[in-house]
Amino acid sequence: MKKYNIKNINLASQGKKKIEWAGNEMPVLKSLEKKFSKNKPLKGLRLAACLHVTSETANLMILLKKSGAEVKLCASNPLSTQDEVVASLVKDYGISVYAVHGASRQLYYQHLESTVSDQTNMTMDDGADLVNLLHTKKKNYLKNIVGGTEETTTGVIRLKALAGQGKLAYPIIAVNDAMTKHFFDNRYGTGQSTIDGLIRATNILLAGKVLVVAGYGWCGRGVAMRAKGHGSQVIVTEVDPVRALEARMDGFEVMQMVDAARIGDIFVTATGDINVIDAKHIKLMKSGAILANTGHFDVEINVKALQNMAKSNKEVRPQVVEYSVGNKKINLIAGGRLVNLSAAEGHPAQVMDMSFAGQFQAAKYVWQNYKKMKPEVYVLPIKLDNEIAKAKLSTMGIQIDKLTQEQKKYLSSWELGT
Ligand SMILES: NC(=O)c1ccc[n+]([C@@H]2O[C@H](COP(=O)([O-])OP(=O)(O)OC[C@H]3O[C@@H](n4cnc5c(N)ncnc54)[C@H](O)[C@@H]3O)[C@@H](O)[C@H]2O)c1
Repeated sequence: MKKYNIKNINLASQGKKKIEWAGNEMPVLKSLEKKFSKNKPLKGLRLAACLHVTSETANLMILLKKSGAEVKLCASNPLSTQDEVVASLVKDYGISVYAVHGASRQLYYQHLESTVSDQTNMTMDDGADLVNLLHTKKKNYLKNIVGGTEETTTGVIRLKALAGQGKLAYPIIAVNDAMTKHFFDNRYGTGQSTIDGLIRATNILLAGKVLVVAGYGWCGRGVAMRAKGHGSQVIVTEVDPVRALEARMDGFEVMQMVDAARIGDIFVTATGDINVIDAKHIKLMKSGAILANTGHFDVEINVKALQNMAKSNKEVRPQVVEYSVGNKKINLIAGGRLVNLSAAEGHPAQVMDMSFAGQFQAAKYVWQNYKKMKPEVYVLPIKLDNEIAKAKLSTMGIQIDKLTQEQKKYLSSWELGT
């Protein structure tokens, strides 16, 4: 089979520069490379990865290869693929990649299939699409699989649903659930890059605008925090009472989407849920409203309903389609796909340094321990999570205090009170 399917190999030199630029900001990955490229702990591992194909992901692929794994990569979203990065991975680093920016649905799934075979030992997913493929159409490829890893909240939800039905066929580490992942990537990464995507797509001034964030989870908190910093009046919608309360006490207005719909200028969904912005909300919106999604799948805004309601639509800027709904104009960014990865470049390398250190450690852990693991969803061992945090602090030149013997004793005792 052809070892890659890409847009244009001549883009490689441009891609290499991007990969190196990101690599400069990924010192934890570099330290892992230094530690493991000699003894190659992943030797013999045939790994299929389905991730956003960005310059940061490229650095993870290079680390995995240098540590002994044979890697094949496809995209976890058709719009986040950086064709120049793909070209360089193939040409300069000899990694098999199946990814083309803007791939059709059919090509997207073809690429997933090209990435796995009956020789694959491990999956590395962002959204559980490879797991889905191996548990449905390609069950015959399960025979050599020993385990997997998962990057995002939505993927973890899908895996837990599969495990809940007793159907998960192999152990998977939910990298998303590591503290060094969702505390930082989901919050600060999504916070910054979502605003980046909004601005690149529209060049809108956020100051003075009413920005509605649906979902006050890790991603929603980040978006709300950064939008506030830009001077927006932020409204949060939630279904979870505790998170709604947290949003209110963090200083945001909280209300139902039907009420927010009437007053919002910009809407960002970050829930991992379906039809959070639906026809009934769109009907109430002001003319000029901007809709964007930063959750994993393009299901959070009911795009079909928007299309059906509109008498016409036109692309008004790259990544922005204006729908004429009655006498109003409603703007949708990136077709409702992840705004930060479609209209911008995803999270900055500094934060992906930790997420991908987690991916690497998870893959290594599974490869070395799969015989002891069951077909369940695991968290990254806390020791590894802490090691990533320590390594990141050290690369930032930050020292922290250590517990004294006296403090250790005090913190593990119950006898001493006031
Ligand atoms: N854009 C990115 O780069 C990026 C990065 C990480 C995660 N994600 C994705 O973003 C999504 C959210 O991830 P998270 O880590 O913040 O999850 P989370 O579980 O921490 O938060 C989701 C929140 O949405 C709320 N919610 C669910 N349905 C809702 C509804 N109908 N209306 C309002 N609120 C609702 C939940 O109560 C929860 O508080 C997931 O799909 C995840 O995979 C995207």
